Amino acid sequence: MTVIEKHDYDVVVIGSGGSGLRAAIAAAEAGAKTAVICKSLLGKAHTVMAEGGMAASLGNMVPEDNWRTHFQDTMFGGKYLNNWRMAELHAKEVPDRAIELEHWGAIFDRNDDRKMHQRAFGGHTHNRLVHIGDRTGLELIRTLQDKTVHSNVDVFMETTITRLLKDGDRVVGAFGFKRPTGEYLSFSSKALVLATGGSGRIYKITSNSQDCTGDGYALAYHAGAQLVDMEFVQFHPTGMVFPPGVAGLLVTEAVRGEGGRLFNNNGERFMEKYDPKRMELSTRDVVARSIYTEVKEGRGSEHGGAFLDVTHLDGDYVKTRLPSMYEQFKELAGVDITKEPMQVGPTCHYFMGGIKVDADTGATRVPGLFATGEATGGMNGSNRLGGNSLGDLLVFGRRAGLGAVEEANRIGPVSVPDGAVEDAHARAAEDLAGDETNKENPYALHKELQQAMGAGAGIFRDKEGLETAIAEVEKIYERALNLRAPSSRPDYNPGWQLCQELRNMTTVSLMIAKGALLREESRGGHSRLDFPAYDDYWSEHNILQDGVGPDLDLTPVPVVRKDDLAELIDERKQQEAATK
Ligand code: FUM
Repeated sequence: MTVIEKHDYDVVVIGSGGSGLRAAIAAAEAGAKTAVICKSLLGKAHTVMAEGGMAASLGNMVPEDNWRTHFQDTMFGGKYLNNWRMAELHAKEVPDRAIELEHWGAIFDRNDDRKMHQRAFGGHTHNRLVHIGDRTGLELIRTLQDKTVHSNVDVFMETTITRLLKDGDRVVGAFGFKRPTGEYLSFSSKALVLATGGSGRIYKITSNSQDCTGDGYALAYHAGAQLVDMEFVQFHPTGMVFPPGVAGLLVTEAVRGEGGRLFNNNGERFMEKYDPKRMELSTRDVVARSIYTEVKEGRGSEHGGAFLDVTHLDGDYVKTRLPSMYEQFKELAGVDITKEPMQVGPTCHYFMGGIKVDADTGATRVPGLFATGEATGGMNGSNRLGGNSLGDLLVFGRRAGLGAVEEANRIGPVSVPDGAVEDAHARAAEDLAGDETNKENPYALHKELQQAMGAGAGIFRDKEGLETAIAEVEKIYERALNLRAPSSRPDYNPGWQLCQELRNMTTVSLMIAKGALLREESRGGHSRLDFPAYDDYWSEHNILQDGVGPDLDLTPVPVVRKDDLAELIDERKQQEAATK
């Protein structure tokens, strides 16, 4: 008989990136018995790829900066499809979260007056990003890891969650296995927080690690939560394009924030054509499409990118402000960036869409289920400004942790039905059972998925390409119901894990491609060649839900609060119109 290890908690957090750790700290500090579960090692997360900094309107460089301007920038960057309450809370609270992080031990770069230095980033009106060189996400994670292990949080590392457990409508726990041993375990929770990040691995070229497989989107969807605007995928303008083994690896936007310039192979500073006002510090969607277009039209570098140049800057300045980039190019590409330009191209970086939550608490519509960070949608509308993710993780991680504690205190004891655990166990074990004849290999199928998504649902889309992608992914989805891990051993078997992840990735891919087909306009991280214009008609949210009503449903955006926030948005729209 299979032994299933059982654990009981008030609050269980799945995911140990910035938002998961911040949620767990908030929950534990509020007195809840709290666990963090992560697939890999504690803190090994995409958070570290937010290298350039965290946007917080502290006003250290430009005293007139304030939350209102940050709010306006965020809404403009997201093309006004943002959840305005999230954008408001984020802009208002992130300065406090930055200072709190310092109190917990993060060492930010300083000005001569000892205040935190703030650098420029695309789409931000003022120099706004506090940072630690170009390793900001790493320092954020290091600080939160340290705080977590001193906050009475139990940590389950290398534990893959395969299913959320429900009692009726309520999520009451999770089921999974330990990667090193293959042993099964189940958790009961009064409240559960999904902090599982994005799903970059559905594309071949991505800045995301192997772990970013959209697990939370799929778990939430199958548990009955709603997802919002999944078609908005951010392709960061600058990933490495060479050598092939590191293609997609992030080249931080801080390179452009510090004055880096983009050139094509004719030596033209091509952003003059696409956004003469903001140039290289235009929003990410615009810069990514510009680079893609230059390359596609034959003006790219020999390795299929654009040239990103900092050689006009003082070499020591570059090494101080961009130490990781200096080392990354030297070590991986043999390029000294103080002497020659980098070659860069778009790389899948972030998902603006995600689980629909209440802005104040992180609650989903499923009782007992909360979400935070990149796993959620709304805060960034159709396009995220660089530097807005680290603040998002801290502001909404804390809020989701507190929301979960409130729910746990309100609900009292829960119990996990035996049948739910048995079902989850049977499904997970199936991927190891029987022989491989007539079964699908998860590695081969993953490649096919990446190929289909890159070809039909990438940076530019059209009806024909999306329909082809949907047809192909639907077939892959069916085939993924018949997977078999290449080895039947339960311990250290990454192929077993990939079976689970691949089903999640195909689910997410269908959400993206179907949402993209439905949205007949171009906005932020969604560009239709057959509908190239932004269209107010489509200022609606694309809501997905399993089992209830239509698969996809366009829903009007809630009216922005009158008198203060709506006025701020109108003011920004008028400013933009006046400078066109
Ligand atoms: O380019 C970067 O450093 C990434 C930052 C972000 O995604 O916020």
